[in-house]
Amino acid sequence: MEFSIKSRSPEILKTACAVVGVYEQRKLTPAAKALDLASEGGLAGILKRGDLDAKAGSTLMLHNLPGLACERVLMVSLGKEGEVNDKAYLDAVRAAVKAASGTGAAEAAMFLVEVPVGGRGADWKAEQIVLSAGEALYRFDRLKSQKDESRPSLGKLTLVVGADEAKAAKAAVARGQAIVNGVNLAKDLGNLPGNHCTPTYLADQAKDLAKAHKLKIQVLEQKDLEKLGMGSFLSVAKGSDQPPKFVVLQYHGGAKAEQPVVLVGKGITFDSGGISLKPAAEMDEMKYDMCGAASVLGTMQAVAELKLPLNVVGLIPTCENLPNGSANKPGDIVTSMSGQTIEVLNTDAEGRLILCDALTYAERFEPAAVIDIATLTGACVIALGHVVSGLLANDDALAREVYVAGEEAGDRCWQLPLLDDYQELLKSNFADMANIGGRAGGTITASAFLSRFAKKYKWAHLDIAGTAWKSGKEKGGTGRPVPLLVHFLAGRAKK
Ligand code: BES
Ligand code: MN
Ligand code: ZN
Repeated sequence: MEFSIKSRSPEILKTACAVVGVYEQRKLTPAAKALDLASEGGLAGILKRGDLDAKAGSTLMLHNLPGLACERVLMVSLGKEGEVNDKAYLDAVRAAVKAASGTGAAEAAMFLVEVPVGGRGADWKAEQIVLSAGEALYRFDRLKSQKDESRPSLGKLTLVVGADEAKAAKAAVARGQAIVNGVNLAKDLGNLPGNHCTPTYLADQAKDLAKAHKLKIQVLEQKDLEKLGMGSFLSVAKGSDQPPKFVVLQYHGGAKAEQPVVLVGKGITFDSGGISLKPAAEMDEMKYDMCGAASVLGTMQAVAELKLPLNVVGLIPTCENLPNGSANKPGDIVTSMSGQTIEVLNTDAEGRLILCDALTYAERFEPAAVIDIATLTGACVIALGHVVSGLLANDDALAREVYVAGEEAGDRCWQLPLLDDYQELLKSNFADMANIGGRAGGTITASAFLSRFAKKYKWAHLDIAGTAWKSGKEKGGTGRPVPLLVHFLAGRAKK
């Protein structure tokens, strides 16, 4: 999909499809009004018949209106004038993109940036339009022998903005485009099944990314990890025939001495639970247990595309969690790279076992901040559902910054308390800690565990168990939290 920005009156703009908003009670937006005037009441006349539902996101396509340079007019309902909030706006934009791409039109022009939305600027609106278009046009059919016939023909979208908004909108479209590319990369990797997306495949993808964008890359192998003493990570990997990999990706866009932001992504390419085997229902969805890693790759790609002026390191510990004869057993005690020992009471709590060694490895970069991203706990899905990601941090200012980035990006998260009181739940009689803290507060005890390995820097943790993919009929990766992370880093780069 290609995007461009133009400032032009709607009646003279040549396009296959002009998209304009309509408020409740058939009140026309300025662009709709201009088309109505030029077509001598063409829009108002049809609205009067009541064919357009007033609910935000309803659409109606008009053909062959006289006096206009466009071939079609797509009207989209916005709800009450003066009361368009984020959700109503996004519903309208999504519906409009879907309706426009359901026609034969190869391109369309949207007049929706002019719609006032709470306190949102033209930049937010332009970016959200790009993200919605990316979402509507995404397909994953590379493993089907018959490719998807319903692939839309819409290939170009023009955002029409006021002349004074053009500059901000242009930057927002570039950011949106980079985010869409990153989201699509993360979705593709997530959607690929475990027999295709192995730890080796993931590492090779990171190498391809490094090559395409001139990033520095190192892939640590089993023997390197042994030398580093990553006994916790390796204990998870040894239950499978696939060799583990540890990806170190570095993007240098800032000053040499500037401290980097380190992103750490959980890369379990399939989580069977190990000896603490998961039940069979929906176990296929555990191919998505590498979505944290995928979001790190998607974000690094976006950062490189945008040439953000800062330094970013991406760390990806990746392996499978399977139950062969050498697998971790409940009760086994492993020694992490930090020297702390861990009693593995449940082999299905493997994410924290691979992340803890990556967090220790992160120390060598003297990071400005570390954010880990992980499909870490089923408990997070119970606590927060599929709307927001879980956020925990050892620094309130960092937590705030991550939260705000999520709000701006439309990729929200919600903070849970990382209080010391939860630490005692991890007590073990035989090792420094256990890898589980019981059923209650499972998301918090998981991050309480991680916090023991993140003492040397400011650290935030995103639990994306409920947001990284959708189940059911719409099953598929979401690419979250790439939008949040790109906004976070773009915000840092500006400072
Ligand atoms: N990858 C899972 C978490 C998960 C489960 C994400 C379901 C999304 C949906 C993780 O490795 C895991 O199995 N966690 C356990 C932890 C428990 C054993 C303390 C869980 O959540 O059940
Ligand atoms: Mn697990
Ligand atoms: Zn897992």
